[in-house]
Amino acid sequence: MKIVKIHIVFILLLTFSFISCHQNTEQKIETRNSTQKKITLDLLDLQAKNKLGKDTIVTIVNDPVYHKIKKYKAVNAEKLIKSQVELSTIDIKNTKIVFECIDGYKPEMPLELFLNTKSFLAFQDVEAPKGLKWEKIIKNENEMDATPFYIVYESVSEKDSRYKWPYNLIKIHLEPSNTSRNELFPIDNKKVEIGYNLFQNQCITCHAINEIGGTMGPELNYPKSVTEYWKEKELVAYIVNPASFRHKVKMPTLGITQQQSQEIVDYLKYMAQHKKSE
Ligand code: HEC
Repeated sequence: MKIVKIHIVFILLLTFSFISCHQNTEQKIETRNSTQKKITLDLLDLQAKNKLGKDTIVTIVNDPVYHKIKKYKAVNAEKLIKSQVELSTIDIKNTKIVFECIDGYKPEMPLELFLNTKSFLAFQDVEAPKGLKWEKIIKNENEMDATPFYIVYESVSEKDSRYKWPYNLIKIHLEPSNTSRNELFPIDNKKVEIGYNLFQNQCITCHAINEIGGTMGPELNYPKSVTEYWKEKELVAYIVNPASFRHKVKMPTLGITQQQSQEIVDYLKYMAQHKKSE
């Protein structure tokens, strides 16, 4: 009888270790076709499993979010990525790092640039008021904080716009740099290329077209394109100055000119003819 019990316990243990092995594979690889793969690091999951790596204190002389000198508890972001991803298996030059934040904001930058710069994943504000993990950030009269993670650099100027400093960060994705180019580029209409470029540079961090892009703002093309339910003139004006249409609007005024806004709307009209197929 005892021997049978021990056997059962042994089998159970084996099963459990098998399950947890499976759960430990943070690298979720989605293959769209053989040349495109996407790797995702779920930072909260890694933290729960104590896999973020060794912490250290970093000092940021001119923090672009808090606008002053700040000190954080952080881990080395490059080491973290290397501990989770076999970098030799990916084409670093043609890969981008996409930061996914709680509210769906998705800024991105070239992976190579990120790996070549000392970058840190901050998880606690050393000077936060007692009982809090982070000092509050005041933005558009709203109070928020950087929880759970914030990407910072010790030696990058806050004015260098190639670098992204996402806070409320939850996931990191590594994707081929050309994903959105391949799928959203207007191959057969040169006239809307300017609008395409503007959209890539100014809008895609918050808005998706055919489900590619950020989710902080609404999808703009699918199933219905904004160009199908907004009057064109109003749409152009909205993109230039959202606050003139909606009180307490979350979309920022981006400094887009009337002319640029028209280029974007022309591109959106083109994309309305190229919707994602089911
Ligand atoms: C920082 C994020 C952010 C950026 C960048 C951004 N938007 Fe928005 N946008 C939003 C949010 C959030 C909304 C939802 C309405 C609101 O602001 O509360 C919105 C709403 C819209 C709407 C209205 C959609 C509807 O159905 O009513 C349009 C059109 C739009 N954005 C276009 C653009 C374009 C074009 C760009 C680039 C020039 C852009 N947005 C850049 C966040 C953003």
